[in-house]
Amino acid sequence: MQADILVLPGDGIGPEVTAAAVQVLRAVAQRYGHVFRFEEKLIGGAAIDATGEPLPADTLAAAQRAHAVLLGAVGGPKWSDPKATVRPEQGLLAIRRALGLYANLRPVKPHPAALGASPIKPHLLTGVDLMVVRELTGGIYFGQKQRTADSASDLCEYSVAEIERVTRRACTLAQSRRGRVTSVDKANVLETSRLWREVVTRVVREEFPGIELEHQLVDSMAMHLLAKPREYDVIVTENMFGDILTDEASMLAGSLGLLPSASLGESTVGLYEPIHGSAPDIAGRGIANPYATILSAAMLLRHSLGLENEARCIEKAVDGALDNGVFTADLAPGGRGVGTQAATAAVLEQLELECQPVMMRD
Ligand code: IPM
Ligand code: MG
Repeated sequence: MQADILVLPGDGIGPEVTAAAVQVLRAVAQRYGHVFRFEEKLIGGAAIDATGEPLPADTLAAAQRAHAVLLGAVGGPKWSDPKATVRPEQGLLAIRRALGLYANLRPVKPHPAALGASPIKPHLLTGVDLMVVRELTGGIYFGQKQRTADSASDLCEYSVAEIERVTRRACTLAQSRRGRVTSVDKANVLETSRLWREVVTRVVREEFPGIELEHQLVDSMAMHLLAKPREYDVIVTENMFGDILTDEASMLAGSLGLLPSASLGESTVGLYEPIHGSAPDIAGRGIANPYATILSAAMLLRHSLGLENEARCIEKAVDGALDNGVFTADLAPGGRGVGTQAATAAVLEQLELECQPVMMRD
């Protein structure tokens, strides 16, 4: 197959990790006889420096033309003056919104070889396999913001339609998993959460009667996620709760550097990015963990290009690298790990060893 993939390296370690994932995608293309055309554009701080805008029109137009977008990370101290009116993060929020990517899938499955990197006791981690579906284009992130000399406010707003569509996505995913959905809200305090709970309950009852639905308040969910992570299958929640809970959930896997994500809308065009940030402290040193971005590339093949075998092949290759103890510093005991390039090379080597093309396609 032929596909156009837009690469948005962004800031900090973004260029290093996206370069690693592109190498892996090129290897997959070659192995399976696909043609992936890569185009690269600016976003975030790099775009602000070059054009004054965090999401230049040219970048958005390229995203709208592409079959899928692979993104590194945005942000950094250079652009984080609290008084700044233009910020790198605005670029990321704007592209998610402009492409209508309302469902952010964040799978968390600790790898047996990396359990030691997690601060959680290993016996709590075996068998953990959860998928957080974070609502991505609504809520407090996008509500009206106000600032006066002595006060500030951020409006949290959700419509019925916004809650319905993300609930459907979560339930559809649960149907091909263990059939359980946990909806997370703060319905004891927030009006948006009361609406959230009502809509989720109705959608599940009317459209997904086979799904086992549970509601949790976000504060107690934060606790349960560490105390009994194995209990959960699909977790669906609003934008900010999902942001916070997935950073927490990354500790189950041992490092933020292992968690990929897919942001999807109604069409197959999606945006794929690691859940970690731009890590300015280690940028440019060749030591960033590329696995989360490589695994995001696997999600890209699965969700935007329909290449399930190729996606699994990348996931198996990353598993193989971890099985062989190829750990970057964030995963290695004592912090002495291999660099980005060595980790990428280990994945490429595993691709050669483990992934047999099922057939050649054009
Ligand atoms: C994430 C990040 C972003 C978010 C930031 C960089 C705007 O934390 O993707 O989780 O809050 O959505
Ligand atoms: Mg986050």
